[in-house]
Amino acid sequence: MRQRQLFLSRRSFRRLLSVSIGRRRGVGGSPEVSTSAGQDDSKSMEPWADKKPTQKPSWRCFSYEEIHKATDGFHQDNLVGRGGYAEVYRGVLEDGQVIAVKRLTRASTDEQKEKDFLQELGTIGHVRHPNVSALLGCCIDRDLHLIFDFSSRGSVSSNLHDERSPPMAWKLRYGIAAGTARGLHYLHKGCRRRIIHRDIKASNILLTTNFEPQISDFGLAKWLPSEWTHRAVAPIEGTFGCLAPEYFMHGIVDEKTDVFAFGVFLLEIISGRKPVDGSHKSLLSWAKPYLSDGAIQKLVDTRLEQDYDMGQLKRLTFIASLCIRATAAWRPSMTEVLELLEDGEEMLQDRWKMPEEEEEENEFWGFDDLDDECDTPSSSSSTRSSQQ
Ligand SMILES: Nc1ncnc2c1ncn2[C@@H]1O[C@H](COP(=O)(O)OP(=O)(O)O)[C@@H](O)[C@H]1O
Ligand SMILES: [Mg+2]
Repeated sequence: MRQRQLFLSRRSFRRLLSVSIGRRRGVGGSPEVSTSAGQDDSKSMEPWADKKPTQKPSWRCFSYEEIHKATDGFHQDNLVGRGGYAEVYRGVLEDGQVIAVKRLTRASTDEQKEKDFLQELGTIGHVRHPNVSALLGCCIDRDLHLIFDFSSRGSVSSNLHDERSPPMAWKLRYGIAAGTARGLHYLHKGCRRRIIHRDIKASNILLTTNFEPQISDFGLAKWLPSEWTHRAVAPIEGTFGCLAPEYFMHGIVDEKTDVFAFGVFLLEIISGRKPVDGSHKSLLSWAKPYLSDGAIQKLVDTRLEQDYDMGQLKRLTFIASLCIRATAAWRPSMTEVLELLEDGEEMLQDRWKMPEEEEEENEFWGFDDLDDECDTPSSSSSTRSSQQ
């Protein structure tokens, strides 16, 4: 029964893919798919997005033989990552191009696996930006696979938290923060359809050889229709420690859900601490007093010692403090985050001041506050496990 379902779905996949396959042919005669998205994105793009022009996305179907050969038969030595939902292998194509093959293996049911696959393909297949992982194609023979450009330096998480390597330099950290902000801004504002990523975190931001950040893992991403202000999503999925309160408590997602997670990501980059560590004290609760007291130097990764730029630290901590505000409406949009990051001028902090009566309610939110502050309907629901 299950097999049959899967078979039928495969036929649907084929139909789906054949509809969108263009006339062009890819390498080795494989069909090359080009989506219409991105073609006139420039119309809806804001000035930021114009800085690095987006290209038209194009991807193709790979044969199983091709990816099997590239990964040396999915050899364990080529296994580079394992998330909550997939195994990722490094591979080399015949023309020498290095690829990442994401094999969806870990879903509870075949149906779930197919849903995850289509969800990721449906969003990432329509985007192209220097700070978003580039989809090269997919393969639906045997298992379900997505094929990406290989990010040779792994994830920001593995770079930040690897005790055996020297600490990641401040300059790199700042560049990663800025690049990730540009990628997220593109997803929210630069695409024809608004995309909410829903799982922004250090293990989903990958690094190229030049440490250019790439937003990846669109397994939870959603389109938000232009006329909707937000969307209710159930079950609540994501990574504990990075979830915005309105999402965690009521399942509401919009761009500000990602902005909140971006704020947590900034704190992780600055401090070198994980969103939730072994002691179960969240990064947010740890950082909160330092942010409120302006003791921002205490937030910096001790492994950096004094090796950081104070102006940039002020900028990043100020942005982080705005992004993690409890009320979504008081958080900046990614356009405003970019303005704050890239403006050479002094930040206009007064512009972001909240009226006093709001201030108390808008104290930052930390997961450790949950017990005494809220009853969480989602507390029993599954959150996507953070394995890295
Ligand atoms: N394009 C890539 N290049 C290099 N490594 C990758 C790539 N994509 C994923 N990985 C590695 O595999 C891990 C899991 O991939 P991810 O897409 O996040 O899967 P999941 O959906 O299971 O979380 C990442 O954290 C990263 O270490
Ligand atoms: Mg992941």
